[in-house]
Amino acid sequence: MSEDTPTKVYEPSAAAREGAHVSGMAAYERLVAEADADHAAYWARLAREFVTWKKPFTQSLDDSNPPFFKWFADGTLNASYNCLDRHVEAGKGGKTALIFEADGGEVTRVTYSELLARTCRIANGLKSLGVKKGDRVVIYISMSIDGVAAMQACARIGATHSVVFGGFSAQSLRDRIEDTGAVAVITADQQVRGGKQLPLKAIVDEALALGGCDSVKNVLVVRRTGAELPMAAGRDRWMHELIAQQPETCEPEWVEAEHPLFLLYTSGSTGKPKGVQHSTGGYLLHAALTTKWTFDLKDDDIFWCTADIGWVTGHSYIAYGPLALGGTEIVFEGVPTYPDAGRFWKMIQDHKVSIFYTAPTAIRSLIKAAEGNEAVHPKRYDLSSLRLLGSVGEPINPAAWEWYHANIGGGRCPIVDTFWQTETGGHMITPLPGATPLVPGSCTLPFPGITAAIVDETGNDVPNGQGGILVVKKPWPSMIRTIWGDPERFKKSYYPPELKGYYLAGDGAIRDAKTGYFTITGRIDDVLNVSGHRMGTMEIESALVSCTELVAEAAVVGRPDDTTGEAICAFVVLKRPRPTGEEAKKIAAELRNWVGREIGPIAKPKDIRFGDNLPKTRSGKIMRRLLRSIAKGEAITQDTSTLENPAILEQLAETN
Ligand code: PRX
Repeated sequence: MSEDTPTKVYEPSAAAREGAHVSGMAAYERLVAEADADHAAYWARLAREFVTWKKPFTQSLDDSNPPFFKWFADGTLNASYNCLDRHVEAGKGGKTALIFEADGGEVTRVTYSELLARTCRIANGLKSLGVKKGDRVVIYISMSIDGVAAMQACARIGATHSVVFGGFSAQSLRDRIEDTGAVAVITADQQVRGGKQLPLKAIVDEALALGGCDSVKNVLVVRRTGAELPMAAGRDRWMHELIAQQPETCEPEWVEAEHPLFLLYTSGSTGKPKGVQHSTGGYLLHAALTTKWTFDLKDDDIFWCTADIGWVTGHSYIAYGPLALGGTEIVFEGVPTYPDAGRFWKMIQDHKVSIFYTAPTAIRSLIKAAEGNEAVHPKRYDLSSLRLLGSVGEPINPAAWEWYHANIGGGRCPIVDTFWQTETGGHMITPLPGATPLVPGSCTLPFPGITAAIVDETGNDVPNGQGGILVVKKPWPSMIRTIWGDPERFKKSYYPPELKGYYLAGDGAIRDAKTGYFTITGRIDDVLNVSGHRMGTMEIESALVSCTELVAEAAVVGRPDDTTGEAICAFVVLKRPRPTGEEAKKIAAELRNWVGREIGPIAKPKDIRFGDNLPKTRSGKIMRRLLRSIAKGEAITQDTSTLENPAILEQLAETN
């Protein structure tokens, strides 16, 4: 799979067009024209169609204080009402909402009525502890019915949730708890992944013990494995005990459309992750709308998004979008390679999944696994229930796209390559399966109403065929509202003055000269994308230099990786002489673990190289472009005349 195959065009088949919510390019173009003609009216129409409002809004977009845009601001609603009650009220209470498959294969189904009852009991439990509208609740839990119900319960009482991915370390969890000022943490005793029991509650204990989390009054623990745990009196409670006597109904807290539904931390180009704040009304609209149009979700579909609820994909396309539409979806606790690399395919077969949404990294690693072992090749499974495939999180290379299309989609399923971000709340540039001709490797065209464009450094449009900076010209309902507690950073990061008031995505892109199709060329800032996970280079550098005993200086860059998209490569100067051989290996392993403890295992550098110094200009600036070339294993052809210490390059090229 080393050479990408040449690109082809795949027109939507008659089957994909038939009955699609958006069928044919003419339908797509009509929607784009409607939005062009009156942006605010277009979104208002959809907000009335897709969201049930307690109090209808009278104004669509309020752009009186850019870039702090508001949508549907005088309307009130409740996200959990929209995801649960309204389907039960419509007589769909007996429909399966979630099909949960545990790591070990046990399956639990919950209907809309059951999920509503569970959500209400958790909501009442939270209320009994004094948690109320506007409070923040951190959720540190693995994939589970209770994870989804906990998010819904927070939404129900107007508490703002902040889910922290279960792979983050105690230190990262602590930082997020402190930044949110959370009053409660919802967790589980343990999580189970790949047959292993891993701690959750113990990490919460460790995080709280690190200090700075005095806001936390309650820790609620869901029982997953039954592990013995120390419970702090007055602070820790078992969820099942708390909710045992709670009623199964709970009047939703009707919140203003702009009320923060959640905060989700993501990496930026500085050391500190930012708390992306999302609204209730606009966010929910786009989560529901994109689930309907991009995934063409129908009443009898079995939808499976493999993301974790700790990431934005798990928010929009597990916790909110499919539920807002009354769909049936899979929630999977485990990993794609356990008990073997056929797990995804077996689950598609067993549950008759019709829409499957995953990340290119997963596809690439499963291609490798299938090529190495016939027994886990997708052809051994019946995947005929599939009708649509999706990809998210990073560019999908044409060869992986073709394999996915042929081997998983049987050549008949369209692939929606969805470009979006934590900050955008939902899909931004994506094919619509019944309309858009597909080109492998391209996320094709903007979602109707999303004014994506490519500009130069001064905000002027660049012609198709010429690369530039990806922006969104007009505000859209599910956009980030601010960075929690740091509105200045929000403005600076996303609305730099030179870009004429456009939203700066942070990615480079190019449009095809003929078709205008978008291809994302990668981040233009210091953000890496490793296995579809966003990591800031500065964040990893800070983690490395915080090992003050060993590390004097560190610089982190990304390099292309066949499986994970990008890999993390760290260049380190130690406080002791530069190590070689076994000693270098040992220290590299130590530093990897250090980063794992500081941030989480996903941030561990793949390569660590040691030097007596880093390549610097005479004014002391680290020359990162040289480090990027070294990381890739390229010969240095760039001009190194401004380099103070050229000899260092050879040292740094040595791998451990
Ligand atoms: O670089 C882009 C890449 O992932 C970044 C957003 O990461 P995150 O906020 O973690 O959200 C991931 C899930 C939506 C983007 O700035 N990215 C995401 N989707 C694609 C992509 N790059 C290329 N193609 C995509 N489909």
